[in-house]
Amino acid sequence: MAKPLRVGLAGVGTVGGALVRLLQRRREDLAARTGRDIAVVAVSALSRGECGPGLEQAAFYNDAKALAAEGDIDVFVEAIGGSDGPAYAGARVALSRGLPLVTSNKAMIAAHGLELAALAEANGASLSFEAAVGGGIPVIKTLREGLAGNDVRRVSGILNGTCNYILSRMESEGLPFDACLAEAQKLGYAEADPTFDIGGFDTAHKLAILASLAFGVKIDADAISVEGIQSITLADLAAADELGYRIKLLGVAERTAKGVEQRVHPTMVAKSEPLAQTMGVLNAVTIDADAIGSLTLVGPGAGGDATASAVAADICDIARGDVAPAFGRPIGALEDGERVPMQRHEGGYYVRMSVVDRPGSVAVFAKRMGERGISLEAIMQKRSDMSASASGFVPVVLITKATTEASIREALELALADGVVREKPQVIRIERA
Ligand code: HSE
Repeated sequence: MAKPLRVGLAGVGTVGGALVRLLQRRREDLAARTGRDIAVVAVSALSRGECGPGLEQAAFYNDAKALAAEGDIDVFVEAIGGSDGPAYAGARVALSRGLPLVTSNKAMIAAHGLELAALAEANGASLSFEAAVGGGIPVIKTLREGLAGNDVRRVSGILNGTCNYILSRMESEGLPFDACLAEAQKLGYAEADPTFDIGGFDTAHKLAILASLAFGVKIDADAISVEGIQSITLADLAAADELGYRIKLLGVAERTAKGVEQRVHPTMVAKSEPLAQTMGVLNAVTIDADAIGSLTLVGPGAGGDATASAVAADICDIARGDVAPAFGRPIGALEDGERVPMQRHEGGYYVRMSVVDRPGSVAVFAKRMGERGISLEAIMQKRSDMSASASGFVPVVLITKATTEASIREALELALADGVVREKPQVIRIERA
């Protein structure tokens, strides 16, 4: 058997701790698969006391950078988190030393992935991040290697379990957003400051990584248009249900004639689609490509064991000496993707608005839609409840055929100025297969 692979592990929290347990539990089989024993021989954490069972013999460092610089190790595994700080410092030092880097850190890869991949290349090292997107779902390897023979057209996914949990609970229990968020926090799904999850930023980081792998473009998280789920109401979920949709927070990267479109927003997804059927904290990614047609991967997007499973897969590749370029091709072969502004997005739209309860008001906004070349597919005027009726407004929901974001926004601005629509209407994009 070849020499053991000596792992240096930075961070022994949920992911790091689960990885230690997994490597112990699966030790014999992993050795049989890779031809080498895999052992965590050095760790970094704030204090030795944080290290759980199995790490008694491991060398201890209280600084990730010191572990990366001085550790007697063959691979540096970063499980600290955060785009910068000790994770990034340790990663840079490890790669500069020529050590392979394995990380579960989506924020760091979204922000610095290109630079880290270049550093890896320059030093004959490798950069692996299977756990950064979709937790235990092997979506990185699928895009980078499994689908190498395909021209990918679109990648769309539920990439944040917290948001999917909240939307699923709102739908199934009829509970408002705030109550479901509080529930998610209590169960430990959402961060104490949940903005990162519910604002769509975590999804955007993951989407930036998938877009680079799918389309061979440089990671560009700033190119992503991001909207969170805070504005979704029970009225939207009820209307979606009636129209045959579910509302999901999707990250979508799509090759269009104008360039690679990247967007994160609440989306109407037909109930027949696998993404619509993915409920609770699960993640799912649908990939549309020329040779395979469409495939969907569904699984746990977070949690110690699931994330450790993905980290372990990367470590096995390194143990076998079989590591693909970080983004599926050398850095020099990645293109500058053309940014496509959201205003140029084309698709169907769901619009929910309060319309003045008097003859002809629906005709006024329908005219505005017509002037912008927008064709309506469905329109529902709900019988007003007492409060809506007393206020002189009635709720109207409509579905448009394909149009542009710019057209729908202009038409709604004009309808507001006409005085037939109250407040800013709710607009949700529809994703069609
Ligand atoms: N906050 C993330 C989620 C954790 O809710 O999915 C995994 O990245």
